[in-house]
Amino acid sequence: MNVSVKFCGIEFPNPTVLASGYLGVTGASLASCAKAGAGGATSKTLFMEERPGHPNPSVLQFPGGLINAVGLCGEGIKNARHEFEKYKELAPENPLVGSVGGKTVDEFIECAEIMASYPVDMLELNFSCPNVEGEMGRPIACDPQMTAKATKAIRKVTKKPISVKLSPNVPDIALIAKEAEENGADAITAVNTMGPGMLIDPYARRPILANKVGGVSGYALKPIALKAVYDIYNAVKIPIIATGGIVTGRDALEMLMAGGTLLGIGSSLMYNDMQAFEIILDKIREFMKEEGFEDISELVGLAHET
Ligand SMILES: Cc1cc2nc3c(=O)[nH]c(=O)nc-3n(C[C@H](O)[C@H](O)[C@H](O)COP(=O)(O)O)c2cc1C
Repeated sequence: MNVSVKFCGIEFPNPTVLASGYLGVTGASLASCAKAGAGGATSKTLFMEERPGHPNPSVLQFPGGLINAVGLCGEGIKNARHEFEKYKELAPENPLVGSVGGKTVDEFIECAEIMASYPVDMLELNFSCPNVEGEMGRPIACDPQMTAKATKAIRKVTKKPISVKLSPNVPDIALIAKEAEENGADAITAVNTMGPGMLIDPYARRPILANKVGGVSGYALKPIALKAVYDIYNAVKIPIIATGGIVTGRDALEMLMAGGTLLGIGSSLMYNDMQAFEIILDKIREFMKEEGFEDISELVGLAHET
């Protein structure tokens, strides 16, 4: 049976892709996912400037998943070329997605231009981090017009495929996805973390995260992400990197049937470490064998046919 995926013209040996941010930006750590079975990897979001991020504690576990306010810390994009080169040296068969950030549309454009000159196969535009405010005071992906404007402008600076990463924190995510598609996006990544949310330590009598609030991922996000992917699949023709709460193989099957072509995997690594990719793939293969599917593409969007 075939589990390889052609996505925006790029060959992925299987649909699992490390989601942005979970393992940072070093080429070696991203490549370790490929060695552990991931089809590809997404870098941490990079901005023009070096960013210290939010102070610790910045990532917490709770029964529903994770809550984080890392604050998009990282070296500035100009310092990161060697990490992308390292990845390509270590994992040449596994496509690399470069995640781009910006506090303004102009910064996004500048950053995307630099990222496109690096050895990445495609770009992901992080329009949706809930902890970082854009020029409008909220993430670009929370506004259809801003999404349209930013996608259109960035489209002009690269021919590499672009995936626009959307936020679940909107009333109509399909509308935003359509704006991205109409303005030149080649794909949609859905979704980023939800919220922000909060956890409180009753003994300390205050929120636990130093930033007080953070984005929620993992188990709690899955039904929200699944519905987002389902709605987007109905609204656009471009393919989807389905992301959010894919912990088990069953979650992955649901996401494929909702309409995801690739599967972004983040918080699952918290529960399953680097085995996350193989656990998910084994289940997909087992299901395909039991149910008589030959090619993984047969699963994509299947839940829409009933
Ligand atoms: C610690 C942490 C850091 C993250 N950093 C980024 C980031 O830099 N850029 C981004 O687009 N998403 C970032 N995300 C969001 C993930 O890429 C993903 O969209 C989200 O966690 C939902 O997937 P999951 O439930 O599989 O983790 C981060 C998530 C976590 C938990």
